[in-house]
Amino acid sequence: MNTVTIIGSINLDRTIRVKQMPKPGETMHTKEIFSAGGGKGANQAVAAQRSEAKTNFIGAVGDDDAGKVMMDLLKDEKINLDGVKTIENESTGQAYIVVDDAGENQIMIHAGANAAFDPDYVAQQKALIEQSDFVIAQFESSIDSTVAAFRIAQNAGVRTILNPAPALDNVPEELLKVTDMIIPNETETETITGVHVTDEASMKKAAEYFHNLGIKAVIITIGSKGSFNDVDGESGIVPAFKVNAVDTTSAGDTFIGAMSTVLKKDFSNLKEAILYGNRASSLTVQRYGAQPSIPYKKELSEDK
Ligand code: RIB
Ligand code: NA
Repeated sequence: MNTVTIIGSINLDRTIRVKQMPKPGETMHTKEIFSAGGGKGANQAVAAQRSEAKTNFIGAVGDDDAGKVMMDLLKDEKINLDGVKTIENESTGQAYIVVDDAGENQIMIHAGANAAFDPDYVAQQKALIEQSDFVIAQFESSIDSTVAAFRIAQNAGVRTILNPAPALDNVPEELLKVTDMIIPNETETETITGVHVTDEASMKKAAEYFHNLGIKAVIITIGSKGSFNDVDGESGIVPAFKVNAVDTTSAGDTFIGAMSTVLKKDFSNLKEAILYGNRASSLTVQRYGAQPSIPYKKELSEDK
């Protein structure tokens, strides 16, 4: 089983369920409100740990109640939190999520402590990174910290996986140059490559852009349609399982975290790993919340 280190965000998610999204200026009653563990980084870590990888986390929380809640939740998961610090006078990351009856969501994030740890702190976590098979990062913490982590990783032969979410303008080339595998959605692909992604040919063109920067493996996620992959001169689409989605929050995170637990470091079993990730995310979308919806390995055997 792989050792996976996630660097990134920890959020307390505050979810509001509504029948349909409110229009500007509209006031409406909610169907339900709840809080749950979230944050793209922490969700990916929970997905990896529940698929029984040895999972390390590098990140930060603030010295507030949300931080205590999140540390307790992640501790209960048995994720190694040696690389997580509590920052004084800082707030813990939070996400305000609206989910409608069609399963669509809108998310507003407050970065807080996620944006407040830096490359020097990451350098102190060198040992955690070097003992990993994969290091995974997203765009809810500082790019400089991710570059630092990925440099340490690549120097030690550890594979780096970038999930460039949420979409960010002006992604620095220095980050893409230390990335081994990139997993963007259509919007994120377009912002980075400038290629308007509509079909397999355009995805292939976007993948070329990434390959030219030295990125070996590309997976472009295309929502309920599944994902496009391009590695070692081979490409294709792996369709997602057809299910009734009630809440897609953390579907992408589940896919990435679960996939990284079975992926080989030379990416030679990419399709198999994608199928495993698809099975995991197909369960996530059928349940509410981010971390509460992420499945365990025992739910993901092939005969299920
Ligand atoms: O990807 C889903 C996550 O995005 C949520 O858990 C929320 O915290 C936001 O960061
Ligand atoms: Na969910």
